[in-house]
Amino acid sequence: MKYDVNQLTLEEKIALLTGINEWQTSSANGKLPQIFVSDGPNGLQMFDENGVRKSATAMPALSLLAQTWDKELAYLDGETIANDAAEKGADILLAPGVNIKRTPLNGRNFEYFSEDPYLSGVLAREFIKGVQSRGIGTSLKHFCGNNREKGRRVQSSEIDERALNEIYYRPFEIALEAKPWTVMCAYNPVNGVYASENKKLLKGVLRDKFGFDGLIVSDWASVQSSYKALKATIDLIMPYNEDTLPNVKAALEKGYITMEEIDACVTNVLKLIEKVQNANKQINYTKKERHENAVKIAKAGITLLKNEENILPLKDGGNYLVVGDLSKKPIGGLGSAYVQTDYEQKTVTELLQEKLPNAQVGYDKGACACADWAGANRVKLEYAKRCYVEAYGKDAVVVFVSGDTEGESFDRSHIKLKREYEELIENLLKYNKNLIIVVNSASAIDMSDWIDDVKAVVYEGFSGEGTNEALSSILVGETNPSGKLAESFPYDLDDTFTGDYAGDGFVEWYNDSIFVGYRYYERAGIDVLFPFGYGLSYSKFAYSNLKIEQTDKTDFTVSYDITNTSDVDGAEVSQVYVKDVFSMVVRPEQELKGFEKTFLKAGETKTVSVKLDFRSFAYYSTALDRWHAENGVFEIRIGASSQDIRLVGKVNIELEDDEQQSQAFVYYNN
Ligand code: BGC
Repeated sequence: MKYDVNQLTLEEKIALLTGINEWQTSSANGKLPQIFVSDGPNGLQMFDENGVRKSATAMPALSLLAQTWDKELAYLDGETIANDAAEKGADILLAPGVNIKRTPLNGRNFEYFSEDPYLSGVLAREFIKGVQSRGIGTSLKHFCGNNREKGRRVQSSEIDERALNEIYYRPFEIALEAKPWTVMCAYNPVNGVYASENKKLLKGVLRDKFGFDGLIVSDWASVQSSYKALKATIDLIMPYNEDTLPNVKAALEKGYITMEEIDACVTNVLKLIEKVQNANKQINYTKKERHENAVKIAKAGITLLKNEENILPLKDGGNYLVVGDLSKKPIGGLGSAYVQTDYEQKTVTELLQEKLPNAQVGYDKGACACADWAGANRVKLEYAKRCYVEAYGKDAVVVFVSGDTEGESFDRSHIKLKREYEELIENLLKYNKNLIIVVNSASAIDMSDWIDDVKAVVYEGFSGEGTNEALSSILVGETNPSGKLAESFPYDLDDTFTGDYAGDGFVEWYNDSIFVGYRYYERAGIDVLFPFGYGLSYSKFAYSNLKIEQTDKTDFTVSYDITNTSDVDGAEVSQVYVKDVFSMVVRPEQELKGFEKTFLKAGETKTVSVKLDFRSFAYYSTALDRWHAENGVFEIRIGASSQDIRLVGKVNIELEDDEQQSQAFVYYNN
């Protein structure tokens, strides 16, 4: 069915450019089917008529998905959420978000993938393919520069052109390859103009440069002036706003906006309606299978950060204590990405006991050691005493902790654990040195006060309704951990470029430019607690036999062998970084340009092959106003993490003279 813009009156057209409520488009007086949009990135968030959240599969957060470094799982995640959407009647999923993790304080980091644009873009692309394969549309968000929540509705993200292209646009550019049906703009101004009114951003970059021909939707209530938003090529202003009709009409009468401009937006809404109508919505997983998919992704993303004396996996026959409420019901992030699940997880204590029938697995609430326990609070003291007595003499104590609350519309105020958890660890250490700390947070945590004193750390992130199953399976070694960090963990907030600076309320300068995440730490020579791409396994992997084959001027196939040298099956994420050895412009030490996750049986060797192309070598030249690769030598570095480079090779880029800028020719006399 094709819908014609001319069949609509002016009022109907304008009504179509905004919702009729939070989630639905107008029917234009019964002439058109309506579209239903729904959040979000970590599972379906949908409300019933009374505003109560409907239950859905709580998938791991996108931050945890990123730790899988697994393209197939990104697809599976998208597909699974789309199943819920199809079942509940949503047409468009308001996900995924690909904003860059510029600061670990950002309250919404759990909704995003990584500090690295390539990893973010590739996984988002696969996620979108997965969702859309089931006949549900996506909304790639938030374009762009929404890298913290504080001040998000007013503060301008002041970002230079090169950083925009290399860091902040880049994940969108890559994800657009999957042709998301819609893109959502950001709340904040970018370089002084609201993203929702920023014609350069939406028309100039998104549509003209990146070729996006779908619908652009505003973020919820991000539009200040409806006609300016429409002129900037936003097509759908969400949610319903009673001012839209009179404002757009008045703007039309005054000649601020033309009928052609309005019709162009209406046409995009009509095209989306057609797409929704023609889509073949498919449910291919039962509810149980969706849950299993959630567990599968959680198992692949939960990341082992420390494991001294092989305290993990836990052994059958041991005497263990689990401490903390979070081992019963783990937390997730708050806001529009919150998912209400009706799945009742077994507790970690129960699951460990099931998996280790000959072990003794005790439980203690442990929240006893909270901040004011020394304040002579008798009850708390009693709890504390009981917890320490329980911990004393155990083979290991598994302690569940979390950091400052994470959610939409606010940022974390610090990156340490909550104070009561830091104290709990400190006190427990007096009674038992064999602490295994499980961190239930979804952004980098400063662990410097206790990391050296504990035996193991497992970063479970926000891994959804399958958390306890996945985690306990890893703790006992049924599942070999294979997650790796998608963001660097600094020792301290002060080690980050931004520290606690969050703008002045009007503007935030992105003075770090392209040096975000590992690009910053490596350039500044700042050591981090855990580098980007880091994660441990119960297996050991050896890398060998690097081969680089040139297939075109800037195209290469890089291949190398990985051997599982241990007697445990496991999966390894190998990462390909490229370093421009001599450059006329400032460049990062190295940048991620490829990655692969490979499953290897004990003793097995497999050859991994990764393709590099022009963009793997190019930077964004603001002088030439395009991507540009300089002739010369580039290092190809294969790493188990960004700081654990195992193999290094070299390639020479030799492009035609007319593809190169002239370079200064300098004589040195001595
Ligand atoms: C968020 C979006 C979300 C929308 C609808 C906004 O506050 O920024 O990510 O999709 O609400 O819930």
